[in-house]
Amino acid sequence: MTKTGNRLLDVKGLTIEIETRNGSAVVVDGIDLHVDKGETLGVVGESGCGKSLTMLSLMRLLPNKIRVAKGEAHFDGRDLQRMSNRELRKVRGGDIGFVFQDPMTSLNPVMRIGDQLAEPLIYHRGMGRQEARKRAVELLRLVGIPGPEERIQAYPHELSGGMRQRVMIAIGLACEPKLLIADEPTTALDVTIQAQIVDLVKDLREKLGMSVVWITHDLALIAGLVDRVVVLYAGTVVEDAPVDALYANPRHPYTRGLLASIPKLSDQPTSRLNSIGGTPPEPGRRPQGCPFAPRCPLAMDICRTHVPKLEPVAAAGHHRAACFAVEKAQEAA
Ligand SMILES: Nc1ncnc2c1ncn2[C@@H]1O[C@H](COP(=O)(O)OP(=O)(O)O)[C@@H](O)[C@H]1O
Ligand SMILES: [Mg+2]
Repeated sequence: MTKTGNRLLDVKGLTIEIETRNGSAVVVDGIDLHVDKGETLGVVGESGCGKSLTMLSLMRLLPNKIRVAKGEAHFDGRDLQRMSNRELRKVRGGDIGFVFQDPMTSLNPVMRIGDQLAEPLIYHRGMGRQEARKRAVELLRLVGIPGPEERIQAYPHELSGGMRQRVMIAIGLACEPKLLIADEPTTALDVTIQAQIVDLVKDLREKLGMSVVWITHDLALIAGLVDRVVVLYAGTVVEDAPVDALYANPRHPYTRGLLASIPKLSDQPTSRLNSIGGTPPEPGRRPQGCPFAPRCPLAMDICRTHVPKLEPVAAAGHHRAACFAVEKAQEAA
């Protein structure tokens, strides 16, 4: 259960704006998000919903012309937005480890992977070269890379996609972070390797006792990994629930749409993929009212004029949804 003393990451009212030719446009609209110690949180939503920008903003790594307009983010009781650059560099890659989507752009192509692994250990943990190298070998072994003593000499292009992703995870884990943020870490990989990486992170989480934020557009992949899921749509949290409750009784029509998009084994080969029509709004083209209303099968008049608040939908537990049609969504089940 969530207790304030147990909170590792606490994001409140985070609002991110993009500077466009027509002025600034909101892309992340006042989201609240938290992760407790030892908890694994899934952050789910279609591409373009603001998942990556949210996580990048925490580390103050937002691209040019994109900025945090409002909100707070506390990590382990400390305010990330107001930390000095020096303090923040210690947190980045130290207490918070990152794994990004594309290892080919995040790994340095001209640097041996052993050196890339040693770098954070030398910088954050003050290790000497020898010690860092030894630890690099251990880390590669930890993430299941065979022959780690030889592999530390390899360059990224000499490894397969799955192996490179494991190297990324090893780098993210190098300093034994309190929190690992993995942004679609398996998207480029085939399904068998995706499942292996999920199992790996599950295993390491237990060994290291860390919290994890796993960002994905794939609800099926994370079912057995996460404790709780936050569903993002167009830069707003539309549902926040323990994973079992979310799968058993999704309340927001968007979440239902995402779940219906997952093909089941029982589906006839001919049956169509039951997905949501349309696409999320572009920044600067957010509709008035609920951002999902234009695509929502249950939209009512109020949905087009008012923004629904994230509110509890179940008597027990911490299941919340932002939808005027929640009751209706129930009947339609
Ligand atoms: N560097 C950028 N310049 C302009 N727009 C951007 C940039 N990065 C992201 N965006 C826009 O911000 C929105 C959210 O992006 P992002 O956080 O990357 O989404 P997600 O990770 O959920 O796919 C998208 O509409 C995207 O087009
Ligand atoms: Mg992304």
